[in-house]
Amino acid sequence: MEQKAIAVLTSGGDAPGMNAALRAVVRAGINMGMKVFGVYRGYNGLLNGDIEEMNLRSVSEIIGNGGTKLYTARSEEFKKKEAQVRAADFCRSKGISGVVVIGGDGSFRGARALTAAGINCIGVPGTIDNDIACSEYTVGFDTAMNTAIQMVDRIRDTAQSHDRCSIVEVMGRRCGDIALQTGIATGATAILVPEIEHNIERDVIARILNTQKTGKKHFVIVVAEGVGGVNDLAKYIEQRLGIEARATVLGHVQRGGSPTLRDRVVASQMGYKAVELLKNDIGNRVVVMRDGKITDLDINEALDMERVFDIELYKIAMAISI
Ligand code: ADP
Ligand code: F6P
Repeated sequence: MEQKAIAVLTSGGDAPGMNAALRAVVRAGINMGMKVFGVYRGYNGLLNGDIEEMNLRSVSEIIGNGGTKLYTARSEEFKKKEAQVRAADFCRSKGISGVVVIGGDGSFRGARALTAAGINCIGVPGTIDNDIACSEYTVGFDTAMNTAIQMVDRIRDTAQSHDRCSIVEVMGRRCGDIALQTGIATGATAILVPEIEHNIERDVIARILNTQKTGKKHFVIVVAEGVGGVNDLAKYIEQRLGIEARATVLGHVQRGGSPTLRDRVVASQMGYKAVELLKNDIGNRVVVMRDGKITDLDINEALDMERVFDIELYKIAMAISI
């Protein structure tokens, strides 16, 4: 019987821990007796034939590296049916029966389309945003937050020396998890997230004034990217309160760096689970964390889920960052 072959790709925004997931897929696949191909630059690699067979040493010494050794891409072309069929034909021509897709929910839509075209796909959540509704955790989130708290701690040092208000924008277009967790971990006086409608007077100005009354002279405000407007907010705080204010957008610093223990371990567990599914000819699933355990869900079911914001944690942050 011909040796079974699978492939692995990373797609969408990169995230620390993607390399750990790649390593797990390659090593688990080979251990289970399969050939494993690495696909370069997301779905584009399947359209351009940019793949390479991996061996155990191809993924040596990458578990601690940020970024993705397979590179990543956003492929507009792959959104077209014709391209999906072409990618599936290419997989068949190489004997590839399954693909592990490491990425966010956009990438999972691609995985669903490729499965529909006849190639079993398994999604592994890899994005710093933690914005995938079906999973409590996405690979990269812990590293990004740890980077963010280091940066905010540094910003607080200088804000404190100057009696200033520092407004820091962290990543998260549709999801305030990085802002919420970074905010609570750095004692931000206010946290603005896209999931909760805000009122600047009530949620920022009044909170600064209350804290000021107790003797505090410097303030940190954490704002999610999806809320934005940090430069305008800094100007408003200066005019309204007479407190010097500075805005910082942390940006892509949050996407790089060596993955934390949590990201390395979860990525390894998720990558292994994805390979187990493909080994058993199961496709159209997403590997997820539910109740702290690694399991899998149907992609359609997973993509239909709605994210639930941790309002209790937000309330705690508001109650203690005073
Ligand atoms: P993420 O995976 O981080 O959410 P994107 O939303 O940019 O990132 O999606 C990554 C890639 O997944 C896209 O560039 C495209 O190649 C593929 N993709 C996204 N949506 C679809 C779709 N509806 N059908 C097919 N492929 C898709
Ligand atoms: O999804 C991860 C993320 O870092 C978001 O927080 C951010 O909005 C987006 O990607 C930025 O993507 P890029 O700069 O790669 O286009």
